[in-house]
This record gives sequence, structure tokens and C-alpha cells, in this order.
Amino acid sequence: MEILHDEEICLSCGSCVETCLRRNFQYDEHKKVQLIKNSVNNCLLCGHCLAVCPKDGALKLKGNNEELKKVLPPPSPEIIYNFIASRRSIRRFTSKIPTKEQIETLIDIGRYAPSGHNSQDFNFIVVFGHDKVKSIGKIALQFYEGLINRLNTFIGRQLIKIFAGNKTFNNLEKMEPRLRRHIAIYKETGSIEMVWDAPCLILIHGPDKHDSAINSSLAGYNIILQAHSMGLGTCILGLLREGLIRQVNQLNEIGIKIPGGNNIHMIICVGIPQLSSKYLKIPPRNSPNTTYYGTL
Ligand SMILES: Cc1cc2nc3c(=O)[nH]c(=O)nc-3n(C[C@H](O)[C@H](O)[C@H](O)COP(=O)(O)O)c2cc1C
Repeated sequence: MEILHDEEICLSCGSCVETCLRRNFQYDEHKKVQLIKNSVNNCLLCGHCLAVCPKDGALKLKGNNEELKKVLPPPSPEIIYNFIASRRSIRRFTSKIPTKEQIETLIDIGRYAPSGHNSQDFNFIVVFGHDKVKSIGKIALQFYEGLINRLNTFIGRQLIKIFAGNKTFNNLEKMEPRLRRHIAIYKETGSIEMVWDAPCLILIHGPDKHDSAINSSLAGYNIILQAHSMGLGTCILGLLREGLIRQVNQLNEIGIKIPGGNNIHMIICVGIPQLSSKYLKIPPRNSPNTTYYGTL
């Protein structure tokens, strides 16, 4: 992909010259804006030039016909603060499934997350319906059940220490009561708390790299905030993710394919919140651990 510049339409206002972080635009000797062709490889395709250009059609992203949405005035900082702070992880849902349009809006906004070098290397898998979500939960639950069985034998414990290392072993020991509870609840009630009986999951996957994990998480948080604005409830499912990333073959068997070299970086459940009482207040948080340098 590359940026296309129509010099005939361009007003040469210089907004793109000012905004391009890679300095891909410059004025020629007649004060006409030029796109420096040999800089194209240096272009991040971030679209800032398109975003500031006042003249429709003067700049285009080759091969992309998406209509550019207009920027609306932002809400006040107080409203934004309250909106972000009032988001809660939701773990009880009605039996209704969010609509395809609602999920499409969530995925759409995920794309606007910042990503390193504008790589946008996040991909989304949407799992619709209680049965399918449950079958995914079961894969993770079975994985954890196997792990606990191994923790119960001397040889199993030694093997975990050898193959996973002492740190993972210690973490596992700490998690054991929680995992046992998940298994017991499933056996007693058929409910898988790892997925909170949600009607929909969004799995975000990308290359198995640290930066890509950050990119996917940011895309996920965009989704979470947008869902909050739409009255949908979400919860990040870290325990499910930890189980599933070790059971990719089983996921494959139920038709969910993660391309080789990719990892699942975030899983979010989505549904319509079922709350007998609404959240009226914002709960307290630890005071921030901040170190300031320089004079404020
Ligand atoms: C990386 C990560 C993993 C999480 N995993 C789970 C999970 O497996 N199950 C769950 O119910 N909540 C999970 N959560 C949600 C946290 O428990 C929740 O964000 C925290 O308790 C604060 O509550 P709040 O989100 O309502 O503000 C996870 C959150 C993060 C960021």
C-alpha cells in the first residue's frame, strides 16, 4: 500500500508537510506540495496526511476505498474520565446474544488502536452462541484439570518443575485452589466460570511477539470501551487465554484456527449485562505509585 497524491486537486496548504512524521511531503520551488516518492518506503501509512487534508481526494491510500469519517467534537474531560472510570468487568449476562452489527462496531473500533509502526497486526475471531463459547471453555477447563492431576503426583510435580520451570510451578501451586473451584463449579452446575456463561467471545490474535501482544491488548481495550458506551458488558478472560494458548490443536479441532506463528493475546467476553443493581459509584483504587522527576 502507498499514499497517492493528486497534485491537480491539492491546495498546497501544507498541512501534510507539517504533520508527516517521516517528512514525506515538501514544497517545491513554486511552493507546490510534493510527495517525495523515494520516501514512500519510509511511510508508516498512518494516514495523518489524509486526516489533516482539507481537500477531498487530494490524498488517497492506494487500494483502500474506505470513506473517511469526520471527526466530531470530543466530550468534556470530566465526561471522558467518568466514562473510563465507570467501566466495570461484567460477569453476569442475559441469555440474549449481541447483534452482529454491535459486534461489527466493536471490531471496527478495535482497528483504531495505536500499533507499533502502525503494523495493525491484530486479528479478530468472534465466537457466537452459548454452546460454542462453552465448548471453548471446556477445552481450557480440561487442560487445567490435567494440570491439577499432575500436581497431585510426585512424578507429575517433578515433571512440571523440569519442563515449565520453578516459577511456573510456584504460580500453579498458588492458582490450584482457584482452578479446583472452577472444576467443582462445572461439575456441580455445568457452568464454566472461566467464560462466565457469556454469549459471545472475541479472541484477538497476532504474531507471537511482545509488541504485537501490546497492539492486540490496545485493540481489545478500544473494544471494551466502545462496548461500555453501547451498554454491552465485557470481561477480559486471562485464565481462559492461558489455558487455550496451550491447547491450540483442540481449538483447531472445533474449527477455530490460529495461524502458525500467531498467538492469542487477549480474549474478551461480550454480552448484555444482567444486573439487579446498577453500578452507582466508582470503586476505590490503590493510590498511584508515581515518581516525578523535574520541577512541576
Ligand atoms: C490481563 C487480565 C486478565 C484478566 N482475567 C480475568 C479472568 O480470567 N476472569 C475474570 O473474571 N476477570 C479477569 N480480568 C478482569 C479483572 O479481574 C478486573 O479488571 C479487575 O478485577 C478490576 O475490575 P474492573 O475491571 O471491574 O475495574 C482480567 C483482567 C486483565 C487485565
